[in-house]
Amino acid sequence: MRRSSTIYLDHASGTNLLPEVKRRISEWLDSDVANPSSIHQEGRRSAADLDEARTSIAEVLGCKPSEILFTSGATEANNLAIMGTAEALRDKGLHIITCVTEHPSVLESHKTLEKNGFQVTYLKGDKNGDVDPEEFRASITDDTILASFMWVNNETGLMHPIEELAAIARDRGIRFHCDAVQAFGHIPMQMQNSGIDSLALSGHKLGAPAGIGVLYLRKGRAISRKSFGGSQEQNVRAGTQNHIGAAALATAIQYHTTHLDVNTKKYVELSDHIQNQLKTLPGIQINRQGKQYTPNILSCSFRHLDGEALFIRLDMQNIAVSNGAACSTGSQAPSHVLTALGFDENLAQASLRISMGIESSRHEIDDFCGELKQIVTSIYRDSK
Ligand SMILES: Cc1ncc(COP(=O)(O)O)c(C=O)c1O
Repeated sequence: MRRSSTIYLDHASGTNLLPEVKRRISEWLDSDVANPSSIHQEGRRSAADLDEARTSIAEVLGCKPSEILFTSGATEANNLAIMGTAEALRDKGLHIITCVTEHPSVLESHKTLEKNGFQVTYLKGDKNGDVDPEEFRASITDDTILASFMWVNNETGLMHPIEELAAIARDRGIRFHCDAVQAFGHIPMQMQNSGIDSLALSGHKLGAPAGIGVLYLRKGRAISRKSFGGSQEQNVRAGTQNHIGAAALATAIQYHTTHLDVNTKKYVELSDHIQNQLKTLPGIQINRQGKQYTPNILSCSFRHLDGEALFIRLDMQNIAVSNGAACSTGSQAPSHVLTALGFDENLAQASLRISMGIESSRHEIDDFCGELKQIVTSIYRDSK
């Protein structure tokens, strides 16, 4: 539970530690901690914790423990998978495909590759952001080596048809990376028979601490390393492993796997409830015209409303929601995702991302909808 009276609907940015995770971390608070690479008994105990976390995550993802690499988060996992793959395959081709609505950690990896001689096709998707698998197929050339698509968009909750896209990539012999940060816990994932070659997950979206993430990397897929030093993590990611973070993340992953159905049911109910309440608000548009959305993220916008006033008023009422991604907060630039969907600057700035977590309740949603109604109505009234 949150300790303050904040209405917190920004779980896609970061969410509280799960009780199971707190218990797991507390086991280390008074115990001795050693480097998992050390050869003495204490080091071997840390290494055993790391192995246990790796095996447990591998079981959930349906892959081998050696295919699970621990990173500092999904930004590093995305950077490593995309740039490391492109550089390892440079001799085979220079063309890469991704999508305009990806997370900055994916887009910036591609921008860096462009500066280094690669050519990137940024698919736009249709007016709702849906990527057409046939458009993807048509954009593959003999020079294409890699494609990267997110499973669930962090600003809108739109799901991409990842299994279909990955199968096309596999048929055409190109590598496929997926940023699954916002999808894990909402969509079951099995790597073994999929066309996915690499996949990124982040701890702090799942109730584990920030600073731990996973890169699934299919066995035998060449990758050039991006950090230099020790031979940790299959000689791909140097640096002493965060074994406490890894154990915390494995615990969170287990929780989300066993609670996927019950949590999905709850998010669907809450999401329907929010939409029913919000649809009567003046000037609102619910941004869910695409094919499929994850139920815990809901984006909505207010036509001809002062977005800055909206966020100031929400903050004054202790309401934590996002207007786009947290990493863009503080910048005045409108969200690149909403802009790609054709929103003008004003509409993008008067847009909210409401994202629920396991603590969200109907009561909190009712409070939020009531407050939002008052705020929006008064801003429209004052602007007349
Ligand atoms: C879709 C997506 N990808 C990647 C990231 C980056 O994850 P991390 O904060 O672990 O680096 C985020 C975080 O907001 C995200 O939502």
